[in-house]
Amino acid sequence: MKGIILAGGAGSRLYPLTLVASKQLQPVYDKPMVYYPLTTLIEGGIRELCLISTPHDLPRFRQLLGDGSRFGVSIEYREQAKPAGIAQAFLIAESFIGKDSVTLILGDNIFYGDDEFYRAFAEFKNGATIFGYHVHDPERYGVVEFDVKGRAVSIEEKPKHPKSNYAVPGLYIYDNEVVGITKNLKPSARGELEITDVNVVYLKQKKLRVQQLARGFAWLDAGTSSSLHDASAYVQTIETRQGIKIGCPEEAAFRNGFLSLKQLEEQISKMPNCEYRSYLAEEVVAEAKRLQK
Ligand code: DAU
Repeated sequence: MKGIILAGGAGSRLYPLTLVASKQLQPVYDKPMVYYPLTTLIEGGIRELCLISTPHDLPRFRQLLGDGSRFGVSIEYREQAKPAGIAQAFLIAESFIGKDSVTLILGDNIFYGDDEFYRAFAEFKNGATIFGYHVHDPERYGVVEFDVKGRAVSIEEKPKHPKSNYAVPGLYIYDNEVVGITKNLKPSARGELEITDVNVVYLKQKKLRVQQLARGFAWLDAGTSSSLHDASAYVQTIETRQGIKIGCPEEAAFRNGFLSLKQLEEQISKMPNCEYRSYLAEEVVAEAKRLQK
């Protein structure tokens, strides 16, 4: 399974924050936003990644994440010249995807929660898997409607009159058919290749699985000033209370076996003295060593 992080777009809703640094490089509490989707893909067991962004912002992402070896993964970079739609990612990354299945995550989406969510990656075989998450403002999102048996019956992009309160979060798992499906899409009225149109094709073919995310699960998008603030506040609350970090790719890589203890310690030794380093050294490494005894 390959993984794509889509981190382009104009970021206009966060202006003037995005005049110099793109949205997905903004801090969400104590880390750059893109660390969170990166961590989600690593937790999902994906090691081959491609990050797509604008020609202007791509150099900053390369500077931040490098070739991915710090996190025990490989990261390729591809440009999206204009924000022509989320689904365009599959065309831009066609040669990267090759014959594999692929997970696409939006660079401003934060997921935090139970193991059942991650099982979706491990159990994926074919077709498409997307998620449904209960929200109070579904009209801002792709909206999925379920029948009494919990099966998806319709998906609409930002409907004026949503048929349910279930939004479709920005994480999509597809088989290799997604490239061909995207090639046959027509741009929507707003001139974009819509990810919802991809999902509608899978739905019509009866190959779409929609997994409802549990009540306690957190899905946050950080695309507006107030949702960015809410995301930071959420991360701070959980991290302070539990003494753990959300969105720490080095930790996720270590726990998934992508980095050995020795490799993790090497990475830590290159970090400046800071809270992030202390967390990895004094919580993650110290605990691992204690358990080894
Ligand atoms: O957050 C989940 C929602 O994301 C879904 O429920 C919707 O179905 C989906 O269309 C999308 O809605 P948004 O209105 O949030 O999409 P937006 O245009 O803001 O793009 C989401 C992210 O993807 C954003 O961080 C920028 C990036 N992006 C977007 C487009 C259209 C790109 O990198 N390139 C693009 O061409």
